[in-house]
Amino acid sequence: LSRRKLLSTAGATGLVLGAAGGAVGYAARPAEATPLTSVGDGQVMFHGKHQPGITQGLQARGHLVAFDLRAGAGRKEAAALLRRWSQTAGRLMAGEAATPDDTDVARDAGPSSLTVTFGFGHSFFARTGLEKQRPASLDPLPDFSSDHLDKRRSDGDLWVQIGADDALVAFHALRAIQKDAGSAARVRWQMNGFNRTPGATAHPMTARNLMGQLDGTRNPKPAESDFDRRIFVPSSGSGDPSWMADGSYAVVRRIRMLLDDWEQLSIKAQEDVIGRRKSDGAALSGGTETTAMDLEKTDAQGNLVVPLNAHARITRPDQNGGAAMLRRPFSYHDGIDGDGVPDAGLLFVCWQADPLRGFVPVQRKLDRGDALSRFIRHEASGLFAVPGGAAEGEYVGQPLLE
Ligand code: HEM
Repeated sequence: LSRRKLLSTAGATGLVLGAAGGAVGYAARPAEATPLTSVGDGQVMFHGKHQPGITQGLQARGHLVAFDLRAGAGRKEAAALLRRWSQTAGRLMAGEAATPDDTDVARDAGPSSLTVTFGFGHSFFARTGLEKQRPASLDPLPDFSSDHLDKRRSDGDLWVQIGADDALVAFHALRAIQKDAGSAARVRWQMNGFNRTPGATAHPMTARNLMGQLDGTRNPKPAESDFDRRIFVPSSGSGDPSWMADGSYAVVRRIRMLLDDWEQLSIKAQEDVIGRRKSDGAALSGGTETTAMDLEKTDAQGNLVVPLNAHARITRPDQNGGAAMLRRPFSYHDGIDGDGVPDAGLLFVCWQADPLRGFVPVQRKLDRGDALSRFIRHEASGLFAVPGGAAEGEYVGQPLLE
């Protein structure tokens, strides 16, 4: 056993014992006797068909960062940058140091399920003379009447999503990626988010958001036969440029939750807004979290038990011509703003093979007013083309940039 593994195993043992029984110290069980199942040991492969950070479970900590190429930087500099970034991501995801003079911020920790994902924004292609390679799916999203978008925190030439189950591991990766940008690109915006820590619940379950709802119940599942078709660009026949094969499109929305208003509602009113029970995520028509929603069911007075404007009714693929997406968000909380209200909500990230058949029709419908709209505000937006994964020895985006 390496020293790091011993340390992280001891840490995990301490956590588990502490949570379960209280007064048992680290010394009570020798670390050597414990199986190596610590949070730090989680490892995701960098190289592969798809980029990491799309189908993996939610991580406890996340950073979303957009970069703009610096004046004078074009295709050559972008290619060198993606090569540097890919090498760094590969090393860090394997739990190695970023450079020989590494900052040591992640020292002692394992990879902690770190993922680093790279994407290109609409503006990237003109900056690099690659307009002909720009996918039509990157055309700007339509304006939505409820948008309150801050342009400075929207869009960007390049986008990086970093996720890890340890905050120091995620920060370490963020700094390494920012340093790699060097003279080629500078940060346009950065957002920091979080999800529940693995092991915090007695058994794995759907995560809750800052409104307290189970969020993600009806996400497409990799085992479903139409999952790949919905989430990933096929190798041919889609109208996408060939460099996007096995890639996906990420829609990123910073959605503020108007928590002071939301928390005034009774539990019953909150459940009517979503159409699902708050405690266990079951549809208001009954059953458990995974029981199919009965859209027609009425109560004794003849009213629909899942209201017509309930968020979970309106967003269903069968109510939107089949539109589906994989939602993989982080919550965020950036303190209290100048008006004294929490700057908190959802860094909504959704993945789909085609944003015009995923996010756009659903958001159009929500924009006309679902019950949740009163309690949220879209404050920033981005749409990014996330190419397929890099093969061993290659870098992300190589088929586009080489
Ligand atoms: C479902 C919350 C924004 C699309 C749900 C559910 C909750 C929820 C609690 C039910 C459980 C589940 O299936 O995950 C929220 C919150 C939002 C938000 C708090 C904003 C802060 C959005 C946006 C979109 C969206 C902007 C897309 C434009 C969906 C979809 C489903 C869903 C597609 C699943 C529908 C189904 O397949 O049955 N959301 N949502 N949500 N939401 Fe949202």
